[in-house]
Amino acid sequence: MGSAALAEGPVTVWGPQPGPQSAFVTCPVYEIFFGGARGGGKTDAVLGEWAIHADEYGPDAIGLMVRRTRVELMETFERARRIYAPLGARFTTTPMRVHMPNGARLTFAYLERDSDAESYQGHSYTRVYVEEAGNFPNAAPILKLHSTLRSGAGVPVGMRLTGNPGGPGHQWVRARYIDPAPLGWRVIKDETSGLERIYIPSRVADNAYLGDGYVAQIRASGSAQLVRAWLEGDWSVIAGAFFPEWGARHVVAPMALPGEWARFRALDWGSARPFSVGWYAISDGALPAFPRGALIRYREYYGMAEGQPNVGLRMPAEQVAAKIAALEAKDMPGRQMHGVADPAIFASDGGPSIAERMQRAGVLSRAADNKRVAGAGAMGGWDQVRSRLLGIDGKPMLYVFSTCVHLIRTLPALQHDESRPEDVDTDGEDHAADELRYACMSRPWVPPVRRVTAEGINDYGRGSAATRKARAVSWKVA
Ligand SMILES: Nc1ncnc2c1ncn2[C@@H]1O[C@H](COP(=O)(O)OP(=O)(O)OP(=O)(O)O)[C@@H](O)[C@H]1O
Ligand SMILES: [Mg+2]
Repeated sequence: MGSAALAEGPVTVWGPQPGPQSAFVTCPVYEIFFGGARGGGKTDAVLGEWAIHADEYGPDAIGLMVRRTRVELMETFERARRIYAPLGARFTTTPMRVHMPNGARLTFAYLERDSDAESYQGHSYTRVYVEEAGNFPNAAPILKLHSTLRSGAGVPVGMRLTGNPGGPGHQWVRARYIDPAPLGWRVIKDETSGLERIYIPSRVADNAYLGDGYVAQIRASGSAQLVRAWLEGDWSVIAGAFFPEWGARHVVAPMALPGEWARFRALDWGSARPFSVGWYAISDGALPAFPRGALIRYREYYGMAEGQPNVGLRMPAEQVAAKIAALEAKDMPGRQMHGVADPAIFASDGGPSIAERMQRAGVLSRAADNKRVAGAGAMGGWDQVRSRLLGIDGKPMLYVFSTCVHLIRTLPALQHDESRPEDVDTDGEDHAADELRYACMSRPWVPPVRRVTAEGINDYGRGSAATRKARAVSWKVA
């Protein structure tokens, strides 16, 4: 049916391929996530679906096609031109729009910032398409677009999304579309709205237009994990996880920690995005669970809007500080807790800086070392986090109470930056990780060098970075 609807005279301009693409263009479910593998024919599928929808409803078919960036949007627009031009469509660039000959129209938009979605509130669409949903770090802008789906003419409305595993939005996409029915093809009923959604998986093997050469290209383009995710649409691998060292062994049940252990706080400020405050105790070795020198992150205060990952509370600094001070009063009665904080909060443009405002409310911080990546002989912050996660002899040098749910949620989901793999992709929810990085940089830890002697006895030596390096070369390091 799909191809017939698009036929102009005897010529079929576009038709869905058998399998997932056909299912996608005919599926009546309100919200469809189409995806999985690279090159499965997703972009073609959404453009084809629109052409079919437009053909059926004419001037009452009103569509919105969104992507995260302008560059991405242009790519989809160019492909749209090639498919729709033979149908007699007209194209405008400001606004970027396709006018079908029967009056149906599809507007193209990019939502680079989450707030960009707000300019579409109040509009009415019968179709909203989101290409590469996983490129949106959080679901908020996309959820806002649901309110635009309505039709005075009684056209059945729907949202159609595509995506691959592994982007900055990997976690929310997976939670919303994949986890409820990991193999797909099953209608999921939204608990709050009652609306239905479905995941239709597509594999590169479902796309007959791409040959083996394309698969070889994908194989050459990323880590084994990422390749598996892209070729098989495997959402269970967190492709490119920045901290594969992280695991269950870092999470411990809350317990009372000796009162004499040194404690400090780390803070990453955020307003539109969450802020993250973590409290750390330093083990003196008195408890068998924690090696001497280990950090225990025993509490967190994470400023996230209820149920909305990566959305901040927009709370004034004084209010945040008052809450911090109240919590600390119980930690160290009669003593002042010190902390390290995001260096950005010490900047003042005119009025008092955020750091000063917090200090007035009793929260003292100094600027954290914000070096993210190693260079010029210095260790970077991410290396510090990594070396504490690894620890020594299978014993991490960093532990997190199981009540620190936001660090536990966000740290394993962090991805490598595509163009700078030694750094974190900052489009992800990295606030708790940044705060942890500040904490680790304030207490640098270097694993002792292990000497393997003839008798097989391990001997640990410390020393300056230079001597450690020399030893590492001259001694056999296990
Ligand atoms: N039904 C179809 N008719 C003609 N060509 C098609 C069809 N489906 C897919 N193709 C072609 O296959 C190639 C890959 O398809 P497409 O770009 O839609 O995949 P994708 O899943 O969006 O890929 P990516 O993950 O890279 O975004 C394109 O050249 C596209 O034109
Ligand atoms: Mg595509």
